[in-house]
Amino acid sequence: MVQPDGQQPVAPSALKGEGAQCFVEFEDGTAGQHPTSTPRALETDEIPGIVEDYRQAAERAKRAGFDMVEVHAANAYLLNQFLATGTNKRTDQYGGSLENRARFPLEVVDAVIDVYGADRVGIRMTPFIELFGLTDDEPEAMALYMADQLSKRGLAYLHLNEPNWAGGDITFPAGFREKMRERFSGSLIYCGNYDAEHAEKRISENTTDAVAFGRPYIANPDLPERFRVNASLTEPNHETFYGGNEKGYTDYPFMDNGYDRMS
Ligand SMILES: Cc1cc2nc3c(=O)[nH]c(=O)nc-3n(C[C@H](O)[C@H](O)[C@H](O)COP(=O)(O)O)c2cc1C
Repeated sequence: MVQPDGQQPVAPSALKGEGAQCFVEFEDGTAGQHPTSTPRALETDEIPGIVEDYRQAAERAKRAGFDMVEVHAANAYLLNQFLATGTNKRTDQYGGSLENRARFPLEVVDAVIDVYGADRVGIRMTPFIELFGLTDDEPEAMALYMADQLSKRGLAYLHLNEPNWAGGDITFPAGFREKMRERFSGSLIYCGNYDAEHAEKRISENTTDAVAFGRPYIANPDLPERFRVNASLTEPNHETFYGGNEKGYTDYPFMDNGYDRMS
């Protein structure tokens, strides 16, 4: 029971995420992962309220002083579930065609734009990813449709996670990065299993404007400086990734005045 009053989680359709885990605090105060339960499908008339939740969240982020916000439509979370054919089996205006599956994520984007302005809003997406049972029959068509729609709105950036960042061997198909570059007018960011060299390569071939780092940043609080001086990197400890305290979170060492440099 991880929701208030043991409520079911919500989703586009009542399909259980295969192997999906959520992060919880257990009764004894320790934190860890817990299997998710089967969600219930959102009623059509509940969706405007959720769009409103995103608007409220953006308003709060603005009040708290965040410069920008990123709408999370990736990694099998709620908005990604609406975009993908495998998780969205709805028959109302939020399911079926590309336009319908994109409707709710775009309503969220519009609500957040109302608060921040399009030049301070980005979005994160993971076309082609297969995670927690999420699959999609038309990931490229959806990514390109979203790119068109987001370009029309003048969104600041589109952040794409490589499909194999969490394992597996699915990669973006040949030509996909070039098509995204052509169709999206804002900045592109990629992430997932990059090192400095690979990031430089993508930037110099002009398929991306920037590369984001996750795990290397966890283990290397001074990651940009390490890249700059070509220092070796501390390997992250996977055991402490989803833990609940400072261990493996804020206790990785900074470089020691260059003693750590590679030759
Ligand atoms: C401990 C941990 C927690 C993460 N949590 C999220 C999350 O809540 N939402 C998300 O989209 N990605 C999450 N990610 C994925 C990262 O944002 C990033 O996309 C991924 O690690 C790939 O980049 P990397 O290869 O540089 O680590 C998480 C990754 C790790 C290691």
